Amino acid sequence: EEIDSTNRLVRDLARDGSPEGTVVIAREQTEGRGRRGRGWFSLPEKSLVFSLLLRPTSIGPVHCPQIALVSALALSLSLERIGLLPGLKWPNDVLLGGKKTAGILLESSLERNEVNWVIIGVGINVNMEEADFPPMLRGKATSLRIEKGEFVEKEQIITSFFSFFREWYARWRKPGEDRALQEAYTRRLVGKGEPIFLRGTGEVLEGRMEGIDEEGALLVFTKSGLRRFQWGEVSFCAAQKRQ
Ligand code: BTN
Repeated sequence: EEIDSTNRLVRDLARDGSPEGTVVIAREQTEGRGRRGRGWFSLPEKSLVFSLLLRPTSIGPVHCPQIALVSALALSLSLERIGLLPGLKWPNDVLLGGKKTAGILLESSLERNEVNWVIIGVGINVNMEEADFPPMLRGKATSLRIEKGEFVEKEQIITSFFSFFREWYARWRKPGEDRALQEAYTRRLVGKGEPIFLRGTGEVLEGRMEGIDEEGALLVFTKSGLRRFQWGEVSFCAAQKRQ
């Protein structure tokens, strides 16, 4: 019902040995966590916040971040199913009309260089109206309701997310199937071919976004040539409106 953070609870459950597939969905989250130490704003009834536990043994730790891309793609497909046209901001933000409508926080634990568990935390702005967002988020955040112009059933979104996630997670785990994820993700990637800044790599880098490679890393053409990044935060040089 009400909880500080679904990721925090699932992490405790993971440590206590809960199996893969454990899911916690909260009606209200009081200390939602976002990426880079930020918080996550949510409202009871109007937000969807949940976390899923995976135990992907037999994948190398370097492949873990790709699970965030699989999740973002599954979210995007769920929104497309209700007639919306989302874009993916690498690595794992889902945008509508250039504004953020969902975020994903991936946390993992390694033991002797093996993946012990991965938690996917998902927050979706479902039925907020403009005035529901705190002033600092206005203009940057949106909701499914705002973009669709009508109330959206949370159950429908969560059901289709889990079904798309199951499908794409299984596909991603099959050897030689990386290409399918790369293609489906790239088709929805926001900012391809555009000038960007990339932060979080120790420096702020400027370049042109080329796309992602088969491992989900971002390819950026910089003044020192083509470079690949496994993490970082993209911002767009031109603050235009996009899908
Ligand atoms: C981001 O910064 O974009 C990621 C936001 C992730 C928020 C979700 S809400 C459910 C889960 N529990 C948390 O505390 N955070 C994630």
